[in-house]
Amino acid sequence: SKGSYPTFMLKEIDEQPAVMRRIAQEYFDEERQVTVDQDLLTALSAADRLYFVAAGTSYHASLVGKRLFEKYTEIPVEVGVASEFGYHWPLLSKRPFFVFLSQSGETADSRQVLVEAKRRHLPVLVITNSANSTLAREADYTLLLHAGPEIAVASTKAYTAQIAVEAVLAKALGEKLAIQTAVDFDLLGQLGLAANGMETLVAEKDTWSELAHDYLQTANDAFYIGRGVDYDVSLEAALKLKEISYMHTEGFAAGELKHGTIALIEPGVPVIAFITEQATAAHTRGNVQEVVARGAKVLVIANQDCQDAADQIILPTLTTELMPLLTGVCGQLLAYYATLQRGLNVDQPRNLAKSVTVE
Ligand code: M6R
Repeated sequence: SKGSYPTFMLKEIDEQPAVMRRIAQEYFDEERQVTVDQDLLTALSAADRLYFVAAGTSYHASLVGKRLFEKYTEIPVEVGVASEFGYHWPLLSKRPFFVFLSQSGETADSRQVLVEAKRRHLPVLVITNSANSTLAREADYTLLLHAGPEIAVASTKAYTAQIAVEAVLAKALGEKLAIQTAVDFDLLGQLGLAANGMETLVAEKDTWSELAHDYLQTANDAFYIGRGVDYDVSLEAALKLKEISYMHTEGFAAGELKHGTIALIEPGVPVIAFITEQATAAHTRGNVQEVVARGAKVLVIANQDCQDAADQIILPTLTTELMPLLTGVCGQLLAYYATLQRGLNVDQPRNLAKSVTVE
């Protein structure tokens, strides 16, 4: 039930700090050591390439997963949209391992790829929120998100839970492979910082409501931009806003704008920039200048390491690949309030079902 909440989506956004803490509890022991099924780690450590396959928000979480696994395990990762992958299988490496991300565990596009992977006798892990789902039953290994039921059509807490569980698995596998970056990765500390940061964000509902009002209320289009992991989160923030507010929204790699899309920028168009990666912050700021010069209304969401005096939102700094735990929540809150202000049904947008069980 929604309890005292007006919508499931707001309840689920608010639950995220607790979900981070639950994941820390489920996947770390009393000695603060990460604990994941040894058989799964053994099977994974034999792989020469991981194939992440998912749809929608789970695909966006997989993009972040690629960065986490390549950094902490040094195993190359390919990420595929399930509905494409199923009909255009890439040439596989010699020892592939398949990882499916699915909140519901019922997505038909993902299942189709899973069934074919099994037919080819390839090892399969499903990361899901539902232990009794079809995908969980059909996989060799399952990792649970421990996010609790997600009811709103727009996925929120499953996204951040997926990233946290990916980080758990990347650390555990990296440690098993004796990768020093993984040994040094204080994931437990980071999950604590993420939970605290999320708590601050969800406590500032008036701020988010005002920002949605100022930047999005009268707009017909909106653009999210960022580089690296900020690009990944731009895609997710854009999906969130378009699926519930029906605004035309795009997520772009900040540097790619000037290769075409910048033609759409005219006075008053909202552009939301995520700037949390020190290595590329100056470049994204350059892209912000380009759109400001064309009249865009720019909202900058940065972290402490990349902040500028004029930025509207400053987040605490987490390890680069974990910043979506906070920037993702910003995207959720903007989408939520923009939709509410348009008087639309936040939990059940038109044309959409919670789980898409047809290909
Ligand atoms: O249950 P799944 O994670 O497999 O679902 C995948 C997508 O259908 C889902 O993430 C969808 O994109 C959401 N409506 C996004 O908010």
